[in-house]
Order: sequence, then structure tokens, then C-alpha cells
Amino acid sequence: MELAKFKMQIPVFVIATIFMTIQANTIEHAGNSTVKHTEHDAWFQRKLAEAYNASLKAYHHDPHEVMNEFNHHVHRALEGDNSTRRGLGKYKGACLAQNPIDRCWRCKPNWAEDRKRLVRCVKGFGRRTTGGLRGAYYTVTDPSDDNVINPKPGTLRFAVLEPRPLWIIFARDMNIKLKAELMITSHKTIDGRGAQVHIANGAGITIQFADNVIIHNIKIHDIKPSIGGLIRDTHDHVGIRGADDGDGINIFASTNIWLDHLSMWNCKDGLIDVVKASTAITLSNNHFTRHDHVLLFGASDTDPADEIMQISLAFNHFGKGLVQRMPRCRYGFFHVLNNDYTHWIMYAIGGTSHPTIISQGNRFIAPNNPTAKMITNRNNMVGDEWKKWIWRSEGDEMVNGAYFVESGHPLDGKRFKKDFIKAKPGSYVRRLTRFSGVRKCRVGKSC
Ligand SMILES: *[C@@H]1O[C@H](CO)[C@@H](O)[C@H](O)[C@H]1NC(C)=O
Ligand SMILES: *[C@@H]1O[C@H](CO)[C@@H](O)[C@H](O)[C@H]1NC(C)=O
Ligand SMILES: *[C@@H]1O[C@H](CO)[C@@H](O)[C@H](O)[C@H]1NC(C)=O
Repeated sequence: MELAKFKMQIPVFVIATIFMTIQANTIEHAGNSTVKHTEHDAWFQRKLAEAYNASLKAYHHDPHEVMNEFNHHVHRALEGDNSTRRGLGKYKGACLAQNPIDRCWRCKPNWAEDRKRLVRCVKGFGRRTTGGLRGAYYTVTDPSDDNVINPKPGTLRFAVLEPRPLWIIFARDMNIKLKAELMITSHKTIDGRGAQVHIANGAGITIQFADNVIIHNIKIHDIKPSIGGLIRDTHDHVGIRGADDGDGINIFASTNIWLDHLSMWNCKDGLIDVVKASTAITLSNNHFTRHDHVLLFGASDTDPADEIMQISLAFNHFGKGLVQRMPRCRYGFFHVLNNDYTHWIMYAIGGTSHPTIISQGNRFIAPNNPTAKMITNRNNMVGDEWKKWIWRSEGDEMVNGAYFVESGHPLDGKRFKKDFIKAKPGSYVRRLTRFSGVRKCRVGKSC
């Protein structure tokens, strides 16, 4: 259902007619800040143009430099670790953080007094993400989501729509069942540490026309498609959303996004979709399970604006019950670094429209099915065109017959301004990823 992402292009008057009667009261409640439906397309087009400008600004002209720098951080974090232990089995010892993102905060028992330290830890293309750093703390106390136009103070929806930076935390464990897509606006951190927070069994998360968002340490699962309708999408705008596909997280025309330590499974469409020239993104330390279409980076072969998409995918664990698209890429530049691929049914990494995919130091464990050993998938491209796409595998550890079909130029140190830094090989993956997914963080103890 990739093309269904263009949800705003559904003729607005059609939906407006449907909702005019049933939503009449709600429109009145929305009051001053509700735009007329007929203005909606113009609003959308203007936002899209502004977002593209923001993406051009966030785009890095030398992605190899960002890649190099990330690899350098991994080397530094592992300095002095000469052990050959493979880290099998459940870990029971003292807090151990071996990748450069975790090492920066996770074993510090005072994390609860120093939550904003997190922003110093992000690496890769999303490295400038600061989320709600400059804002106040906001504590979510109410798991309900009854009013998607004028949400109640204390709810997560109220917090993410506030027109100011906020660092959002949770008063206690909660299950949040969203009534409609949760539209996250710029300069927000959703920080689930200290509580067990599930966003589940309802609609998913949308980051649209937003800059600078962190989502950290929450569980997102069993997301269902929602029918759409009138939703407040920014503090001063209510718009009509078409029905959505039921993605866990949909990143649409947005910049500087960091998703870290999420556990995600069993959503209706994608777990995470990144579309419409979104860029400057890092997905790290996540644990993905039980899902078909896992990660989609670029939704359409007719959307070359995605050339400026730059995403780092690092230290994630692609686990049980996954089928394909880890990720499935178009056009942009994708650094796939030190992830652990322990399960897939069809393939791991795929793409069309000449994406650049640099796969470094991952561990790929192929399934037993002899026809599914190939990591890569190019959608049965015929002809030679694909041979020019730069898809390189470096230091990946291949297990159980896994193989990566490379194409394009080899990585060549001479093309870089700085010295070329080789990634840490796949043999380090287990220790870099073994603490992926949601962590139980108790105040006063390391996570
Ligand atoms: C709408 O709100 C703005 C500021 O919030 C105010 O200046 C304006 O007068 C309001 N308009 C109406 C029609 O109430
Ligand atoms: C995008 O940037 C260009 C060049 O800086 C500017 O002329 C244009 O007005 C911007 N467009 C929007 C919608 O912000
Ligand atoms: C690890 O190995 C490096 C290079 O061989 C050496 O310089 C370093 O002292 C070793 N570190 C430890 C903790 O043994």
C-alpha cells in the first residue's frame, strides 16, 4: 500500500461532505483555529514546499563523512575491548554499554536527573537532533485519547501538539490506544524511561512537516489502520486526514529525527515508513519482531525528491517473525551499520530507483529455506541498470549461507576527504546490539 501515503490528495470535498454532518459539532468546538476545508490543499502544498526546503538544509553534501565519523565513534567506544566473547545468552552482569550511543548515557544511574543528556548521544545522519532539549518537561498523566481536535491537557496528544519545545515523560506505566494518528510536531522528545509505555491496538504515530523529534524507549505494536477524519495536526490547524494504512511510525516530509530503543511489532502496514524527502534520520537500538513490511525508506519510484533522504540504521536487532524490507529503499543514501539480522523469511535489504546502500559490520543469519539466502532484493530488475547502484557490503558476517549481491563502485578511501575508517566487523554485532529495544529503567539505577 505504498502509494496510499499521499493521503492528503484525496479530493477534500468528498470527505468533507461525509464528515460535514457527523462532525458538525466538533468543527464548532475547534473554533477559531479551524481552517475551512477548501483551504486545506493550499495549506498542504505550502507545508510540503517548506518541508522540502528544510530537508535541503538538513541534507549533508558528503554523506561519507557522516558515515566515517559514525564508524570512528564505534571504534572509540570499543577501545580496550579486546575480548573475543560473543555475548551469547541472557546478560546478568553489571550494566554494560558497548555501542557509542548507549555508552554515552545508559549505565549512568542518575539518568532520571539528567534526561536531556540523551541529545549528546545521537550519531549518524540524525546527529543534530535535540528534540525537546530547549523546552520544559511535560508529564503525561492521562492515557486517554478521546478528543483528537481539542485534546485534554495531560494526554500525550495534547503534549505533542504544543507549539513549543517539550521533553515529554510519563507519570506511570500506561497503555495508550490512539483514536487517530498521533501527529507529532517539531521540537519534541517522547521519553518513555521510567515507565512501561505501550502505544498499541489503535492508530499509529505520524511525524509530518516536523523538524527535530526524538522518540525513545516505548513499545509500539498492534497498530491498526484508522479511518481518518478531522484531526488537529498542529497547534493552530485542524485538517482532514484520509484513512491511513496502519504504520507504526510514519515520517513524512520531516527532518532531524531519532528513534532509539523502541520495541515494535505486528502493525498493519509498515513498522516505520520514511517518505517525502524526509532526511537527517537515525534509527538505533531498536528491536523489531513479528512483522511483514518492516522499514520502508521512500514510498514511490516516481518520487525523486527522495534523493536527499539520508538515514543511519545502526545497532538494531531484526528478530523473530520478520519477513522483508529491513529496509526497502529508494533514491537516498542509507548507512546500515552493525545491525543483527537473526530472522527473515523473504530477504533483508531491498530497493529500487538507484538507492545507495552501504552495509557495514552487520550479522546476517539466513533462514534455512535454500531459496531465501540472498540478503538483497532488487525487485527482479531486468537489464544491467542495477549494476550501477552502489550497494556495498563491508565486514558483514554471513551465517547459514547468507549472501549479499553487491553492485556499483567499491568504497574507495581516496574519494574521502578524511581517512577512510573501516567499520567494526560483524563479529562485534552481538555485543553492540544485545541491549536493543525497550529497557526497564528504574530511577537511581542504570538502564
Ligand atoms: C482568533 O484568534 C486570534 C489570536 O488567537 C485573535 O487575534 C482573533 O481575533 C481571533 N479571531 C476570531 C474570529 O475570534
Ligand atoms: C524555499 O527556499 C527558497 C530559496 O531559499 C525560497 O525562495 C522559497 O521561498 C522557499 N520556499 C518556501 C515555501 O519556504
Ligand atoms: C587491546 O589491544 C590493543 C592493540 O593490540 C592494545 O594497545 C590495548 O592495550 C589492548 N587493551 C587491553 C585492555 O588489553
